[in-house]
Amino acid sequence: MTEENINIDEMLQQNRDADLLRFTTAGSVDDGKSTLIGRLLNDCKCIYEDHLEALERDSQKLNRKLDFALLTDGLKAEREQGITIDVAYRYFSTPKRRFVIADTPGHEQYTRNMATGASTANLAVILIDARHGVLTQSKRHSFISSLLGIPHFVVAINKMDLVDYSEEVFDDIRKDFESFSAKLDVKDLIYIPISALCGDNVVNRSDKMPWYDGTTLLRHLETVHVSSDRNLIDFRFPVQYVSRPNLDFRGFCGSVASGVVRVGDEVMALPSGKKSKVKEIVTFDGPLEQAYPPQSITVCLEDEIDLSRGDMLVHPLNLPKLERSVEVMLVWMSDVPLKINSPYLIKNTTNTVRGSITDLKYSVDPADLHRVKADTLELNQIGRANIELFRPLICDEYTRNRTTGGLIIIDPMSNATVAAGMIIHRTEGKESIRGQEKDAPTSRNITHVNSLVDSKLREKVLGHKAATIWLTGLSGSGKSTVGLALEHRLVQEGHACLLLDGDNVRSGLNRDLGFSADDRTENIRRVAEVANLMNDAGIIAIASFISPYRSDRQNAREIIGSDRFIETYINTPLDVCEERDSKGLYVKARAGEIASFTGVTAPYEEPEEPVLKIPTHELSVDDAVDRIIVELKAERIIS
Ligand code: ADX
Repeated sequence: MTEENINIDEMLQQNRDADLLRFTTAGSVDDGKSTLIGRLLNDCKCIYEDHLEALERDSQKLNRKLDFALLTDGLKAEREQGITIDVAYRYFSTPKRRFVIADTPGHEQYTRNMATGASTANLAVILIDARHGVLTQSKRHSFISSLLGIPHFVVAINKMDLVDYSEEVFDDIRKDFESFSAKLDVKDLIYIPISALCGDNVVNRSDKMPWYDGTTLLRHLETVHVSSDRNLIDFRFPVQYVSRPNLDFRGFCGSVASGVVRVGDEVMALPSGKKSKVKEIVTFDGPLEQAYPPQSITVCLEDEIDLSRGDMLVHPLNLPKLERSVEVMLVWMSDVPLKINSPYLIKNTTNTVRGSITDLKYSVDPADLHRVKADTLELNQIGRANIELFRPLICDEYTRNRTTGGLIIIDPMSNATVAAGMIIHRTEGKESIRGQEKDAPTSRNITHVNSLVDSKLREKVLGHKAATIWLTGLSGSGKSTVGLALEHRLVQEGHACLLLDGDNVRSGLNRDLGFSADDRTENIRRVAEVANLMNDAGIIAIASFISPYRSDRQNAREIIGSDRFIETYINTPLDVCEERDSKGLYVKARAGEIASFTGVTAPYEEPEEPVLKIPTHELSVDDAVDRIIVELKAERIIS
């Protein structure tokens, strides 16, 4: 372990916040959420005296046993400052840890409550009624929780007393949930069978379920490891205000969003790019040698640098992005639906910028995670959109940084918060839209650098725009023939162009790949990354690959950017391809000598909406090339 690591560990030890766990509870109305929270508080002996007395009174009035639901329901009146929402926060502690519960209501209008209550949570408790199994509502809650980047999930299967504490019921629900959660981005998920009403496995271990040898809910909440969830790598310090009590002192106040800063560190101010060193870190409790999230500090620098609210201090070798255009997942929180191209205020950290939502790509049905075409988002709907800004945001991706990657959208007329957004990836302008959020690098210690050359400058130098002409179709359909002729024509006409062809790439870069579905997916991903680099260099790429799976082509589109991805379907029918059999492969495939041969023993999924269709059995090669050239001109890629 390096000295630096030891310091960070010690520092975490000292950090009060490492002993704090924030969690949300989500469940349908009858799943027993309030009872569970009441049970937790009661069995931990954490109910405040005044609450307990009131509870006894209320329960007597209703002539019932102590009803914990009355306790938490009564607390819903509590409001967080700022956005008015129906989230009740409960605070309690055990000798091991302090807890904050954000209790979000279970009725249909839950999305925005969850988005606000859950955005800082470490853990989500998803409650499922053992009698009813995994309902749509539980799926919605889980989807939103994963979207919000909550790293730990507990699926609490409740009311086990009503299903005779059956192991089989528990196992069935677990399997059901597992098949859904496989599609979510959740790192840590456990299942606990409980009865909140009877107190089984909540705080005290149940003797009714000898088949369950896992932990109780409270024990898990007390021991789940949360300190490493925090980003201690990328130092981000959004400036809240400048403190100038007298002429001798000037400090920048704010809360550390991520990373660690030490006295003596070289820092860069953004957006100006000016550098200085940290002279002092001041807090209410005296000076510090180092600070980390979420400490509130005042930073004094060695040089006079002009900084104001909305600016950010960072380490110069680890920069966030400055973006005028961001792609986000939006959770719409207003009764007034989203208006495309209308003015909104976008607030990201301490920075508020004017902007507009220019493009809504799709909305997501949280119940089955399907993407749905949408023109607007209404209350509680979730969708993927592009935002254009008047001034750049200083931001990161949400998956990397929940503070600098999150934003809210404000209606400038009513001043109401209308949406919460998670930045899922950044664009360099409309030309390059990339699906980087899909596969983040394995290491977190990787920082993207931005080119100083923008695509306009490259276009000027090369005299054309960059694009990828993606030729897809069966083996023998004529992709290579058309691709070669197109490349030749474009270069003859003075354009920078290169053909990437299946067999060639599979002899070099991809020689480790075969023809299983997974290998084909990886083949297409790598090719798309190469085409993307070629396009970044300003070159027109022609990609000639069977690329039989729709999802792989969609992934390629996202890597390359949908505005420079021209999907061209070489739609020569199978019987023609097979009759041509230019490489003799169909004969071999029919004879069983080649496994998983596309069109024979492996599928080909036709493009649904290709930009172009090229039937090579009806067109000459020259005509096929002409068609593509016409399209490139229409798209103003070449002139
Ligand atoms: S893809 O499936 O991954 O898109 P790609 O275009 O790279 O395929 O490579 C296809 C070429 O590999 C074909 O033109 C053919 O020459 C050769 N090939 C060898 N085995 C197979 C197979 N099982 N299925 C399809 N093509 C194959």
